[in-house]
Amino acid sequence: MMVKLGLLVAVAVLLETVSAASLDVVYTEGGMVKGDSIRIGLFRRMDVFRGIPFADVPGRFQKPQRHPGWDGVLKATEFKPRCMQVNLLMSETRGSEDCLYLNIWVPHDKSVSRDLPVMVWIYGGGFLAGGSMGANFLDNYLYDGQEIADRGNVIVVTLGYRVGTLGFLSTGDSDLPGNYGLWDQQAAIAWVHRNIRSFGGDPDNVTIFGESAGGASVNFQTLTPHNKGLFKRAISQSGVALSPWAINENPGNFAKEIAQKVNCPTDASMAACLKMTDPQALTLAGGLSIISSPDNPLVNNLLLSPVVDGDFLPDEPSKLFHNAAEVDYIIGVNDMDGHVFTAVDVPSINSHLVDTPIEDVRRLLAAYTKEGGQTASDEAFATYTNSWGQNPNKETIKRTIVDIGTDYIFLIPSQAALYLHAANASTSRTYSYFFSQPNRMGGIGKPYPSWMGADHADDLQYVFGKPFTTPLGYWPSHRDVSRYMINYWTNFAKTGDPNKGESVPATWPEFTSSGHKYLEINSKMDKNYVREELRLPFLRFWGSALPKLSKILKE
Ligand SMILES: *[C@@H]1O[C@H](CO)[C@@H](O)[C@H](O)[C@H]1NC(C)=O
Ligand SMILES: *[C@@H]1O[C@H](CO)[C@@H](O)[C@H](O)[C@H]1NC(C)=O
Repeated sequence: MMVKLGLLVAVAVLLETVSAASLDVVYTEGGMVKGDSIRIGLFRRMDVFRGIPFADVPGRFQKPQRHPGWDGVLKATEFKPRCMQVNLLMSETRGSEDCLYLNIWVPHDKSVSRDLPVMVWIYGGGFLAGGSMGANFLDNYLYDGQEIADRGNVIVVTLGYRVGTLGFLSTGDSDLPGNYGLWDQQAAIAWVHRNIRSFGGDPDNVTIFGESAGGASVNFQTLTPHNKGLFKRAISQSGVALSPWAINENPGNFAKEIAQKVNCPTDASMAACLKMTDPQALTLAGGLSIISSPDNPLVNNLLLSPVVDGDFLPDEPSKLFHNAAEVDYIIGVNDMDGHVFTAVDVPSINSHLVDTPIEDVRRLLAAYTKEGGQTASDEAFATYTNSWGQNPNKETIKRTIVDIGTDYIFLIPSQAALYLHAANASTSRTYSYFFSQPNRMGGIGKPYPSWMGADHADDLQYVFGKPFTTPLGYWPSHRDVSRYMINYWTNFAKTGDPNKGESVPATWPEFTSSGHKYLEINSKMDKNYVREELRLPFLRFWGSALPKLSKILKE
């Protein structure tokens, strides 16, 4: 017995020491850090660092500053608070102003990893909310980097950045220039470039990726002149800098509204007063408080967004794509990205009982084409009802509403960004995807209609490998699509070519100025899922209706 036990202990010790490596204490520019080391296989471990500061506690409405550093070893084993923001009901705040931290996942085999490609995640949330510090909803930690890091053998970094009033309030001039949240992201990217080698990463092999406002943020980071040489590749999922909600062109008006809500004057002393105001009051004042309708769509009310400040963004986004010429870029959308938004404006689209009046199609289009007046609105209606025939059925009307939202809010601006990137790409490549894995809540007896496709944010669970982490919640086909996406994404992070490396179900061709090819992604995909000219008639229509896109989409 004794002998047996001794043997067991010896084997255990042996496994512990030779089975897989770990980093232990890491030297960073601010001081030493130590994370957790988790065994994930016989010869595989994962080091996880939670809550490493990449900048100092930010000054209110100021750019982030370098962290002063610390003595001794910083225990990086607990998540830090997310950046201060409104809760779901917009009735309270959560989080802290002290929130500029990042998390790192590093996989190892028998020896300590070196020169791994690095993927830096930027969360979405309409520039109003979001966080990568632990549970997102209902104890589910959506942005856990472990599956991507393990399956793709890459380092994953997730960061925090300021959102809402504290992240984006701007007077449109030097008083409160805005874009603080974008500067936070930039500071984190620069920190990764300076420090990731000590974690086994290759600073010349960094990819930034993000979804929704995070996808738009990724685009902004490629367009600013402040990131030269700091990363090589980018992925924007359902959001680009050309999206109608991504830039506030007239931030001064909204700053005045906020000032009034927190009892500050709106004259020359406004900025000084706002800077002294309680951060929770400022945050609450930035919460959405509208009653949306097809005449006043939700998306037109997202006003705490980036601004053209002459510094982070020296010009309008469409005039800055030369800065992205050397960045390999994947841009894509979900086939029903607009569903969750249009369902707020026109709730009947989800009803199995209530019809959606054709009038709502007209009203929504009129609101989206306001700039172009009656002509644009009539033309829009003709374009979207062209295939309807005499008597459109209930489902056709509802689906058309979702298509309109998807096109206007996400799809058309994403195509414009693809055109601009491909036209400017010198040494780099451009790839386009269309994600169409149906939402799991669609069907008879379920909350959503049976024709439901991929809603906004549906892609996240697959990119972050949830069908593997929580297998009981998913079918095998969900694990297929998750594997496809992780392979495409991490192959791209390693080489700039999503096809090179781990196996993929179809060869994804480049999107070029002469061939607008894209890949449709879902669990059934095979090599016949390579397509071209995504929604061309609608692209043509919006190219003529929206002056900002007309030059870009003219072909
Ligand atoms: C390259 O990007 C710029 C904006 O930076 C844009 O104005 C220009 O049209 C693009 N080039 C081409 C060849 O399309
Ligand atoms: C990036 O990483 C991949 C995989 O480790 C490697 O093949 C490649 O040479 C690295 N460097 C660059 C600049 O792509």
